[in-house]
Amino acid sequence: MAQLLDGKLVRDEILSELRPRILALPRRPGLAVVLVGADPASEVYVSSKVKTCGELGFLSEKITRPAATTTAELLAIVDQLNADPTIDGILVQMPLPKHIDAQQVLNRIAPTKDVDGFHPVNVGRLSIGLPGPRPCTPNGVMRLLHRYGIDVAGKRAVIVGRSDIVGKPMAMLLLHANATVTICHSRTADLAAECQRADILVGAIGRPAFLTAEHIRPGAVVIDVGINRLTERSQVEAIWRNEPAVLAEFDRKGKLLVGDTHPLDAPALASAWTPVPGGVGPLTIAMLMSNTVEASELRQAC
Ligand code: GUN
Repeated sequence: MAQLLDGKLVRDEILSELRPRILALPRRPGLAVVLVGADPASEVYVSSKVKTCGELGFLSEKITRPAATTTAELLAIVDQLNADPTIDGILVQMPLPKHIDAQQVLNRIAPTKDVDGFHPVNVGRLSIGLPGPRPCTPNGVMRLLHRYGIDVAGKRAVIVGRSDIVGKPMAMLLLHANATVTICHSRTADLAAECQRADILVGAIGRPAFLTAEHIRPGAVVIDVGINRLTERSQVEAIWRNEPAVLAEFDRKGKLLVGDTHPLDAPALASAWTPVPGGVGPLTIAMLMSNTVEASELRQAC
């Protein structure tokens, strides 16, 4: 029986560890979250980030702007937040509308307030192993592996997906932890063969239930970073092989979340696996809070 890696449990532990550090600060930590446009998934993520800020007693500022916002307008917002002494962390929710120069926006965030770890300075710091804010989702994965005593040193880790937000920083973090790392992507030849070599398989491509039995080596640790929303019943039927309880849930809600790994094949084959929802997802926010506390401590010289 595969061990379920419980992201909610580890999230709660991380948040509990943060509480005394927050109370010890002269001024409460401040996080600004900027959302441009009305992407439904981004709205859900931003709301839960703001909600968690409230639970921890942070100052949180949610700034929403219409999809037609220009790059210059967004840069002006970032400048204002950079100069605001009550704000320790700035997060601009990705993806931004296509007409906005996202890299220019990320470059403008003060590296000391970059709680996403997306600024080129912080990407560089990660690359050469200097301290700095680490991207939240891959850092959450590392915490989860550590919490469950899964040692990555000397293991083969295969990451499917090469995004700047997850795939690349995940590779760096696993490499620093002495794993042997392979990054796969849409042009990888014989993806299944690459994945079959993995002791630790990370799905981070954003394609529903894409990694199936042919990709998962029996006994591998399967980490699923994908959060894909299914709204077609036929998709649910095909993925869950007509499992009545799952179809009933879909019929009740009209939607269902699935990761990048197959929800039946992964637990059947893996030694340990993260479910979707309830696996990696909750850790992203916990690590964001952790990065914000850290930035606030440094700013307030604790
Ligand atoms: N979109 C999806 N994940 C993230 C994240 O970790 N940070 C930001 N800013 N946007 C995201």
